[in-house]
Amino acid sequence: MTISNEDELEQLREIGRIVAEVLQAMGAALEPGMTTAELDDIGRRLLDQAGAHSAPEVCYGFPGATCISVNEEIAHGVPGGRRIQAGDLVNIDVSAEKDGIFADTGASFAVPPVSPVIERLCRDGRRAMWTGLRQVKSEEPLASIGFAIGKFARKHGYSLVRNLASHGVGRSLHEEPKEIATWPDRHDRRKMNDGLVFTIEPFLSLGAEWANTKHDRWTLFSQPCAPTVQYEHTVVATRRGPLVMTQVQ
Ligand code: CO
Ligand code: CO
Repeated sequence: MTISNEDELEQLREIGRIVAEVLQAMGAALEPGMTTAELDDIGRRLLDQAGAHSAPEVCYGFPGATCISVNEEIAHGVPGGRRIQAGDLVNIDVSAEKDGIFADTGASFAVPPVSPVIERLCRDGRRAMWTGLRQVKSEEPLASIGFAIGKFARKHGYSLVRNLASHGVGRSLHEEPKEIATWPDRHDRRKMNDGLVFTIEPFLSLGAEWANTKHDRWTLFSQPCAPTVQYEHTVVATRRGPLVMTQVQ
């Protein structure tokens, strides 16, 4: 969506704050021994309390309130009986709707004890996202985001998953502009119009280049199999730069 007035911006801020708080609470609750279904229940309860509805459930009939992906799973993981173990890398993606407006956020959490390599991957995953976010400004090319993230990844020796793109959001979970690359894409000529709402969610990895679906038709796996992180914010492009909607205040 494109924000055209203060009311719309306030509504987006509201659902942005909700998904950010749910993500933070789920990350804090994460501990070895719990199942991903138990973690998802915490998210569902908090969304309910806030009067919000799970976006993947509403938009796609996803079997869970949030997407929880562990280790070799990198996105759209279905909450279930899998137990979190010490040393796991867990991605939680929370997207939800309230009063017809959608916001989307995600983060990867390493469950202690964490190796220095994974600690660095998590830190750099956030840095990669912020590198993309700093490119956001109305009238600038959308592709500048992917170029900046690509340069960051190359400089620090990481790969990027090249078939999980960022996307417009607001009136639905995934909308125009679709397929915003978080890697270099010379063919994209689109610009960020003033008020445009979209996500930035690079998948930074220690070797994965691609994501593949498996048996359950939801879960995406890294290929080649390698530790991968995703950090995601919903952002509004303005003349003065990015307005990040999914930060805990
Ligand atoms: Co997301
Ligand atoms: Co997203």
